[in-house]
Amino acid sequence: MLEITNAVKVFAKGTPIEHTALNHLNLTLTDGEFVTVIGSNGAGKSTLFNAICGTFLLDKGRILLDGTDLTHMPEHKRALMIGRVFQDPMKGTAPHMTIEENLSLAHSRSTARPLSFAPSKKQTALFRDRLAAFHMGLEDRMKTQVGLLSGGERQAVTLLMCTIVTPKLLLLDEHTAALDPATAEQVMEITRKTVETYRLTTMMITHNISQALTTGTRTLMMDEGEVLFDMDGAGRARMTVDDLMRMYSGTRHKALDSDRMLLKK
Ligand SMILES: Nc1ncnc2c1ncn2[C@@H]1O[C@H](COP(=O)(O)OP(=O)(O)OP(=O)(O)O)[C@@H](O)[C@H]1O
Ligand SMILES: [Mg+2]
Repeated sequence: MLEITNAVKVFAKGTPIEHTALNHLNLTLTDGEFVTVIGSNGAGKSTLFNAICGTFLLDKGRILLDGTDLTHMPEHKRALMIGRVFQDPMKGTAPHMTIEENLSLAHSRSTARPLSFAPSKKQTALFRDRLAAFHMGLEDRMKTQVGLLSGGERQAVTLLMCTIVTPKLLLLDEHTAALDPATAEQVMEITRKTVETYRLTTMMITHNISQALTTGTRTLMMDEGEVLFDMDGAGRARMTVDDLMRMYSGTRHKALDSDRMLLKK
């Protein structure tokens, strides 16, 4: 499904601040996998997502998605196949447009219909059904401007915009990190349900290690632009946050250090 081979990205090449953000990274995801991604600040997690989405081109390496070579494809073309939700609830939706208009744009963008924010009756019914499944009451507020919604509600609308037409890959970059704990849990629940119902191949960056180990089917720990640990199955199920920290210090000969990563539950 997703196949990344020997990905290299060096920022500020040839200057004193040269930094290798992706260091010969290899990664293969199979269809329907839900992979969580952890790693300290600057490990290269968001850079990996940027590389997949085409925010920049790789210096070396290759990216295949469902048999299509993305390596040199422009970002806007990749966006038709990839859904992405960011940490900032302000990103991803147009604040002065209503929920319905935002969804309509997202829906028509990826279908044969001309670009439109006036939904058809059929679309309105689809949006209402999908919003109702979130149990946030958003189905009764479809004519509300998105800018008036809370952060959690906006993330829910963004998630729906990214999945209203099933993407080949869903990328979530700490999409609950800016929310209060109760709202974050609500958005996580919606995320789990959406991924499961539509069998979405998903990567989710989180700074909550315990959540990473218990969500989805596989967990990657990134470090210095590489995948340091790749965990799944029984090994992952048994893994505790302490085990992971011990594994890290055993391999890197230093303590796992991050001011944002939750090292305890
Ligand atoms: N456009 C850029 N130009 C220069 N350096 C960059 C750029 N994007 C990322 N970097 C650097 O690459 C490294 C990896 O950054 P990245 O954003 O991928 O980290 P991250 O793992 O997502 O960390 P965080 O947990 O803080 O979000 C960092 O040192 C960062 O400063
Ligand atoms: Mg990041």
